[in-house]
Amino acid sequence: MHTPKIRLTNVHKDYISKRDELKVLKDINLYVNKGEFVSIIGPSGCGKSTIFHIITKLEKTYEGIVEIDGEPLEKSKERTGYMHQKDLLMPWRTLIDNVLLPLEIEGKNKKEAKEEVRKYFDVFGLEGFEEAYPNELSGGMRQRGALLRTFLVDSELLLLDEPFGALDAINRSKMQEWLLKIWHQFKRSVLFITHDIEEAIYLSDRIYVLSERPAKVLKEVQIDFERPRKKDIVVTEKFLNYKKILMDSLK
Ligand SMILES: Nc1ncnc2c1ncn2[C@@H]1O[C@H](COP(=O)(O)OP(=O)(O)O)[C@@H](O)[C@H]1O
Ligand SMILES: [Mg+2]
Repeated sequence: MHTPKIRLTNVHKDYISKRDELKVLKDINLYVNKGEFVSIIGPSGCGKSTIFHIITKLEKTYEGIVEIDGEPLEKSKERTGYMHQKDLLMPWRTLIDNVLLPLEIEGKNKKEAKEEVRKYFDVFGLEGFEEAYPNELSGGMRQRGALLRTFLVDSELLLLDEPFGALDAINRSKMQEWLLKIWHQFKRSVLFITHDIEEAIYLSDRIYVLSERPAKVLKEVQIDFERPRKKDIVVTEKFLNYKKILMDSLK
């Protein structure tokens, strides 16, 4: 049996303050195989982002086991590429200076980092905007910039927290196409949070449905559409069936 890229076993999390105790995650079991695209959907406030905070070690207290490549998270040296819902580009840095931040943090020479990063601008649809500031870019471009920065973290695992939540339908659809292309090209493992059922079906190999807080896994659905995904699968009966299964389990 091969080892998954990441596995959570019976992960349990309460936020405890002096005043009260908030039960957030209850026995979460999930995994992502290497190269797999897995989505998490669930009601707002159920604990989805908390799962990412645990994986990225922003949240250190929890019960259960988290393993990366079969190694306990606490021992693992692997950094994870993590993208928040908000793009969080620094307004005072040009796009290229924002994008090369992970390389700068790794201690790379800035001039060399710039050369390395520049070649990706084309693939990410950002060519010609290297020296632009975030406020000069469209919402979609800022998201692509933030995604490029996330991809440049030297990590096989990408955690994307509702990355397209703030985009309009057309830009969102373009970004989905584009994300699949990039994912295919870079062969990363992705854990993707969304509250959009259709987005989850279109992008994923598998989907976990979480319950209201305290979140537990209600359902795991395997999505069998061939890759690369074709846009017209969204109007097939099979797609609607998946949608029904997922909507029913969220009721
Ligand atoms: N650091 C924290 N301290 C206390 N409560 C928190 C903290 N972070 C999140 N919460 C609470 O935990 C619950 C789950 O939050 P979150 O994981 O952000 O949900 P989701 O991403 O599914 O919308 C929410 O009720 C939120 O208010
Ligand atoms: Mg969230």
